Amino acid sequence: MKRLALPEPRLAGKVTVEGALRERRSVRRFASEALTLDEIAQLLWSVQGVTGTGGERTTPSAGGLYPLQMYVAAARVEGLEEGVYRYRVDRHDLEPVAEGDVRIKLAAASHGVEWVDSAPVVLAIGGVVQRTAIKYGARARRYVYIEVGCAAENLYLQAQSLGLGGVLVGAFDDQEVSDILKLREGEEAMALMPVGRPRQ
Ligand SMILES: Cc1cc2nc3c(=O)[nH]c(=O)nc-3n(C[C@H](O)[C@H](O)[C@H](O)COP(=O)(O)O)c2cc1C
Repeated sequence: MKRLALPEPRLAGKVTVEGALRERRSVRRFASEALTLDEIAQLLWSVQGVTGTGGERTTPSAGGLYPLQMYVAAARVEGLEEGVYRYRVDRHDLEPVAEGDVRIKLAAASHGVEWVDSAPVVLAIGGVVQRTAIKYGARARRYVYIEVGCAAENLYLQAQSLGLGGVLVGAFDDQEVSDILKLREGEEAMALMPVGRPRQ
């Protein structure tokens, strides 16, 4: 597995924000078709892409401290070997973390739900509460959870705009998911989102 530069995001789409809001639904049944690297890049950019000259990102963050960290558990993505990857915001690339398809393990850690192991890719949102606590102390955990919500909605709307779908999964064993994705010290598993093409 190698580091992989991601394609640049597209800054225009065919679906309006209103259209995406109107049509968005959680999707739990996926076609077997692979996703493209362009789609993965676009989804990651929608959550944590750098859009400001001061390093500001697509998702708002309390105090601009950016405690979220995206991971990708890829199984069927054109041009991407199966495995777990860490999204590096500053370089817009993927750093390999673990080899192989981990979806079955992730599903087992999520009460065995089939949408986690049937999606071509599972995106994971990790959070470092300590990063926000430096400024906000005891309110940090609240802020990080709110940011996960903002990030997840960005993902939902971007997926909708690409003709993809997914579901935010909050029900899982934190430690197991953290071990499977090899989260770093201080990072906590906050949410999973299996994504794919909706099955008719
Ligand atoms: C914080 C949060 C946690 C959720 N956790 C799960 C989950 O563990 N499993 C699941 O199937 N759906 C989960 N969902 C998706 C909701 O069930 C879904 O959003 C809700 O039924 C409304 O449907 P819609 O998203 O299609 O509008 C979660 C949603 C949120 C906001």
